[in-house]
Amino acid sequence: MSIPALGLGTFRLQGQAAIDSVRNGLEVGYRAIDTAQIYGNEAEVGTAIAASGVARADLFLTTKIWIENLSRGKLVPSLKDSLAKLRTDHVDLTLIHWPSPGGAVPVAEFMGALAEAREQGLTRQIGVSNFTIALMREAIDAVGAGAIATNQIELHPFLQNRKVAEFARSQGIHITSYMTLGYGSVLQDPVIGRIAARLSATPAQVVLAWAMQLGYAVIPSSTRRANLESNLGALAVRLNDADMAAIAALDRGGRLTSPEGLAPVWD
Ligand SMILES: NC(=O)c1ccc[n+]([C@@H]2O[C@H](COP(=O)([O-])OP(=O)(O)OC[C@H]3O[C@@H](n4cnc5c(N)ncnc54)[C@H](OP(=O)(O)O)[C@@H]3O)[C@@H](O)[C@H]2O)c1
Repeated sequence: MSIPALGLGTFRLQGQAAIDSVRNGLEVGYRAIDTAQIYGNEAEVGTAIAASGVARADLFLTTKIWIENLSRGKLVPSLKDSLAKLRTDHVDLTLIHWPSPGGAVPVAEFMGALAEAREQGLTRQIGVSNFTIALMREAIDAVGAGAIATNQIELHPFLQNRKVAEFARSQGIHITSYMTLGYGSVLQDPVIGRIAARLSATPAQVVLAWAMQLGYAVIPSSTRRANLESNLGALAVRLNDADMAAIAALDRGGRLTSPEGLAPVWD
């Protein structure tokens, strides 16, 4: 069991834009797709996959359970709804999208329900997202570190999230970086621009290669086929130690995602 190094993000993509992005992504070679119940595009992702002709066995599908569906009675039925929309009998990875606000549903309850979903064959692997170290500890207490495939967190050159990443590493939990491109913001950085010019790569390729070289999975999104295609090229980009050190120095606590009422107290 493992997490693909590079997949396709679908946050914000609605209707035809979601179908087009997934179709283009599959055509240029993506085989891992990240969606979520709250994105409102699972059905469009399912439509694009069905039309693509790509075999289900060749795909790695991730979805995420929304906070309203965390209770024991709701989690599995909500995942079954997601599977129907995605037109599949299982996903490869199911994440708890955000911890339950105010701890309304205990971590042990939703992690237990998620483990049950895996036992029922609805998902091959399970994991969490936006979890702090304290919340990861609770999740580990509930199901064991070995059962948690990943913690998907905001992580890019301006927010390197080292404490969480180091704790996850110590527990054998993979980190998936979301917003690796800082929703485009890090692509203007002159340090990244200089590395990209030297390597004849794009800034996006440099940032994605940086994250993958640190051992993180990445799931960049794009509405443009050319960007989708060139982002895949990050798999062939190799940064040297000086490049890695220069990007390490760009960390500035630049968090972009911290929704009020949803975000935990960050590490
Ligand atoms: N677990 C969570 O709570 C959570 C939160 C946020 C995101 N995510 C996941 O992570 C994925 C990635 O995050 P994100 O989509 O918010 O941000 P992102 O991947 O960091 O950035 C996407 C933005 O970068 C631009 N872009 C992409 N490739 C580019 C390139 N080669 N050159 C220039 N611009 C480029 C895109 O614009 P164009 O469309 O113009 O290319 C888009 O505006 C999401 O889609 C979602 O699946 C998860």
